Amino acid sequence: MLELRNLHKSIGGTEILHGVDLTLQKGEVLAVIGPSGSGKTTLLRCLNFLERADSGNVTLLGQSLDMAAASRKDIASYRRHTAFVFQNFNLFANKTALQNVTEGLIVARGMTKSEAEHIGREALQRVGLADKADAYPVQLSGGQQQRVAIARAIASEPDVILLDEPTSALDPELISEVLAVIKQLADDGMTMIIVTHEIRFARHVATNVLFMDGGRALVHTSAKEFFENPTHERVQSFLQSLDEQSYENTKGSN
Ligand SMILES: Nc1ncnc2c1ncn2[C@@H]1O[C@H](COP(=O)(O)OP(=O)(O)O)[C@@H](O)[C@H]1O
Ligand SMILES: [Mg+2]
Repeated sequence: MLELRNLHKSIGGTEILHGVDLTLQKGEVLAVIGPSGSGKTTLLRCLNFLERADSGNVTLLGQSLDMAAASRKDIASYRRHTAFVFQNFNLFANKTALQNVTEGLIVARGMTKSEAEHIGREALQRVGLADKADAYPVQLSGGQQQRVAIARAIASEPDVILLDEPTSALDPELISEVLAVIKQLADDGMTMIIVTHEIRFARHVATNVLFMDGGRALVHTSAKEFFENPTHERVQSFLQSLDEQSYENTKGSN
């Protein structure tokens, strides 16, 4: 349902992404893994036009866009099918949880307040926060804030959700509640691309893995193949470089 071809992106005269391809089927959970600085965030941001690619082509549900030339209108219609979850939640501090979820539905989708609130409450319920609808971000833990951001994403009924290290800003004890919500979405058949350092989670939830290294998609394969039979030498050294203990923990988790 999504196909990216030959994405190039430079920042400040340096090329960051050197022609990245990826494909994504409906219902697939693609984990994007790789060393820090390998271009994972830039890839995801370009995919949602939060950064403008220098060149590349993306086809989503049969609609093809030249990523360098796409108009604002093209981008708006593309984004009706996508949602983005940021590392740092990106909630409005002056809006309640419910208002954060309904804002886009009212402003961008033209829903009435009561329609939006109905959908918003359902979305908050799905992430286990029905009772926090009227809380402001400052009154919520980081894990709860990220779950509000996920509720906001699912409320727009996207065809694909892009998540950029959704747990990396969280205290360790809050990570699992967010991962559990994402796992539930995966089980419900949501199509997702997740940049993550949580290797154990990736192994458990992802159907496929894209391994980024130095601005290139070095390996794109099934999660099973990636973790059980890592043939590429860069992948082997990356997996070995992770905390030995945490990698041991991933064995037998699926
Ligand atoms: N705004 C920016 N200005 C300059 N360099 C950047 C900027 N954003 C990213 N980069 C560089 O691009 C490379 C890829 O960054 P990023 O996509 O954030 O990688 P990752 O998410 O894999 O850690 C890094 O070398 C980073 O320093
Ligand atoms: Mg990043």
